[in-house]
Amino acid sequence: MSANVNSRLTGFYKLPLETRLDLIQQQIPLSDEEVRVLGEGMSLSLEQADHMTENTVGLYALPLGIATNFKINGRDVLVPMVIEEPSVIAGASLAAKLARAGGGFEAETDDPVMIGQIQLVGLSDAAAARDQVLAHKDKLMQLANDVDPVLVRLGGGARDIRARVLETPKGPMLIVHLHFDVRDAMGANAVNTACERLAPVLATITDGQAYLRILTNLADQRLARARAVIPEEALAFGDFSGEQVAEGIELAWAFAAADPYRATTHNKGIMNGIDAVALATGNDWRAIEAGAHAYAAREGRYTTLSTWHRDGQGNLVGTLELPMALGIIGGATRVHPTARVALKLLNVSSARELSEVVVSVGLAQNLAAIRALVTEGIQRGHMSLHARQVAMAAGAQGQDIDRIAHAMIDKDTIRIDCAESLLSK
Ligand code: MEV
Repeated sequence: MSANVNSRLTGFYKLPLETRLDLIQQQIPLSDEEVRVLGEGMSLSLEQADHMTENTVGLYALPLGIATNFKINGRDVLVPMVIEEPSVIAGASLAAKLARAGGGFEAETDDPVMIGQIQLVGLSDAAAARDQVLAHKDKLMQLANDVDPVLVRLGGGARDIRARVLETPKGPMLIVHLHFDVRDAMGANAVNTACERLAPVLATITDGQAYLRILTNLADQRLARARAVIPEEALAFGDFSGEQVAEGIELAWAFAAADPYRATTHNKGIMNGIDAVALATGNDWRAIEAGAHAYAAREGRYTTLSTWHRDGQGNLVGTLELPMALGIIGGATRVHPTARVALKLLNVSSARELSEVVVSVGLAQNLAAIRALVTEGIQRGHMSLHARQVAMAAGAQGQDIDRIAHAMIDKDTIRIDCAESLLSK
């Protein structure tokens, strides 16, 4: 990350789109093409899209916004987020400002180690088969490394082979785990290829039959963690004291910690931020989603991914930990023109740095949601932004969008029928 970015862009949201883009360019110089990608929406071409998936007949566009105020590990970061839901980017920016008052986010990640699974069945003695696999560990790791010598040269490759006997409704199976450091990639291709290479060898070693050879999205060897300390006074607003807000947030956490119904929504709020950056950077957000929710249930009961409590001085301390299988090479990250620009804006030089940003955004998003929920409620901020979408859905265009949105807010009725009636007048 570059040290000279200033993410504290006061009033950014009030500026016209072109001025916002100018301000971003003053900090991160973009080529003419990159400016067109953002400012004119000249992103993925139909031809590129046609090569990415099958049966392509068109494109689907979403807004890309910049979350401001983020300071992560002492450095300012402009965070690109792709999301259709109003108030997510505003929420992240507000929460980042609160965290900034306490020095910003501290974030860290494990080594980028993914796990591949190979399923072995038809074993006469599964425990003996496991011992055989472990006796061949070095040879198996070497074989996995042979799949991608470039990755090994870059410091990645096999880290471990583990094996466990699994009792299933179809009898015992041996599940072999390959721990594979994928460096700056998300890693699915590297891991799946290595698993496919190991499978026949494992079948021979165990005298069994190999079936599934695939990575697990429960990437619990590749965790990312963020922490923020928010001074109590920074939490005060309107009629709410900092102490009230901090206490409310602690109680919101306790509710989510104890109740899976609430934890699901609490975590959804976290994923609003995480998915938006994953999507902006061309990453597989479904993999992140799957890993996050499995991690939230790792102790046998679904619970919150974050924690919130007050320290001895009354400051609010938040933490978030979850698997983070993100890449800055491979997949769409380098193919999708907007993803390339998003990575440039983030100015990250490794997948780990990207993960540190993303986990911090998740924590910020969570703070924004529960701060609103324990004070004025979510609808006030949400509905005023939502009003513009409702106005557009009713057919408003140009200046009518804001005019009708404001009229609905004044009437305290943000509904499509109200927008339609205002529009017809
Ligand atoms: C809405 O997209 C997300 C929230 O429901 C999260 C939460 O309840 O914590 C507001």
